[in-house]
Amino acid sequence: MLSSQNIKIDIEKCIGCGTCAALAPGTFKMNDQMKAEVLDVVTDDEATIQSARDCCPVQVITIE
Ligand code: F3S
Repeated sequence: MLSSQNIKIDIEKCIGCGTCAALAPGTFKMNDQMKAEVLDVVTDDEATIQSARDCCPVQVITIE
Protein backbone atom coordinates (compact mmCIF):
# COMPACT_ATOMS: atom_id res chain seq x y z
CA MET A 1 0.00 0.00 0.00
CA LEU A 2 1.35 3.39 -0.98
CA SER A 3 1.26 6.29 1.45
CA SER A 4 1.07 10.01 0.78
CA GLN A 5 4.85 10.22 1.24
CA ASN A 6 5.36 8.02 -1.83
CA ILE A 7 3.40 10.23 -4.21
CA LYS A 8 4.60 13.60 -5.50
CA ILE A 9 3.03 16.21 -7.73
CA ASP A 10 5.02 18.93 -9.48
CA ILE A 11 2.47 21.58 -8.54
CA GLU A 12 4.04 24.29 -10.69
CA LYS A 13 3.37 22.24 -13.80
CA CYS A 14 -0.08 20.86 -12.85
CA ILE A 15 -2.61 22.37 -15.26
CA GLY A 16 -5.57 21.47 -13.04
CA CYS A 17 -7.27 19.07 -15.43
CA GLY A 18 -8.61 16.98 -12.55
CA THR A 19 -8.01 13.59 -14.15
CA CYS A 20 -6.00 12.28 -11.21
CA ALA A 21 -8.73 13.17 -8.71
CA ALA A 22 -11.39 11.65 -10.97
CA LEU A 23 -9.51 8.37 -11.45
CA ALA A 24 -8.12 8.04 -7.92
CA PRO A 25 -10.35 10.03 -5.55
CA GLY A 26 -8.89 8.13 -2.62
CA THR A 27 -5.49 9.61 -3.36
CA PHE A 28 -5.85 13.01 -5.02
CA LYS A 29 -8.07 16.04 -4.53
CA MET A 30 -8.26 19.43 -6.20
CA ASN A 31 -7.49 22.44 -4.01
CA ASP A 32 -8.91 25.97 -4.17
CA GLN A 33 -6.28 26.95 -6.74
CA MET A 34 -7.40 24.02 -8.95
CA LYS A 35 -4.13 22.22 -8.36
CA ALA A 36 -3.93 18.57 -7.39
CA GLU A 37 -2.97 17.58 -3.86
CA VAL A 38 -2.22 14.19 -2.34
CA LEU A 39 -4.58 13.30 0.49
CA ASP A 40 -3.04 12.68 3.92
CA VAL A 41 -4.52 9.19 3.95
CA VAL A 42 -4.29 7.29 0.67
CA THR A 43 -6.92 4.58 0.18
CA ASP A 44 -6.61 3.65 -3.53
CA ASP A 45 -4.68 0.56 -4.55
CA GLU A 46 -1.36 0.94 -6.31
CA ALA A 47 -2.71 0.07 -9.78
CA THR A 48 -5.34 2.81 -9.49
CA ILE A 49 -2.72 5.38 -8.49
CA GLN A 50 -0.42 4.28 -11.31
CA SER A 51 -3.28 4.65 -13.76
CA ALA A 52 -3.94 8.19 -12.53
CA ARG A 53 -0.26 8.99 -12.89
CA ASP A 54 -0.18 7.62 -16.42
CA CYS A 55 -3.29 9.59 -17.42
CA CYS A 56 -2.00 12.98 -16.24
CA PRO A 57 -1.70 14.94 -19.51
CA VAL A 58 1.41 16.78 -18.35
CA GLN A 59 3.01 13.82 -16.49
CA VAL A 60 3.68 15.65 -13.24
CA ILE A 61 2.83 12.80 -10.86
CA THR A 62 5.64 10.58 -9.62
CA ILE A 63 5.43 7.47 -7.45
CA GLU A 64 8.48 6.51 -5.43
FE1 F3S B 1 -2.83 18.21 -12.38
FE2 F3S B 1 -2.19 16.10 -13.78
FE3 F3S B 1 -3.87 15.88 -11.82
S1 F3S B 1 -2.54 18.14 -14.55
S2 F3S B 1 -4.92 17.84 -11.76
S3 F3S B 1 -1.75 16.44 -11.65
S4 F3S B 1 -3.99 14.80 -13.74
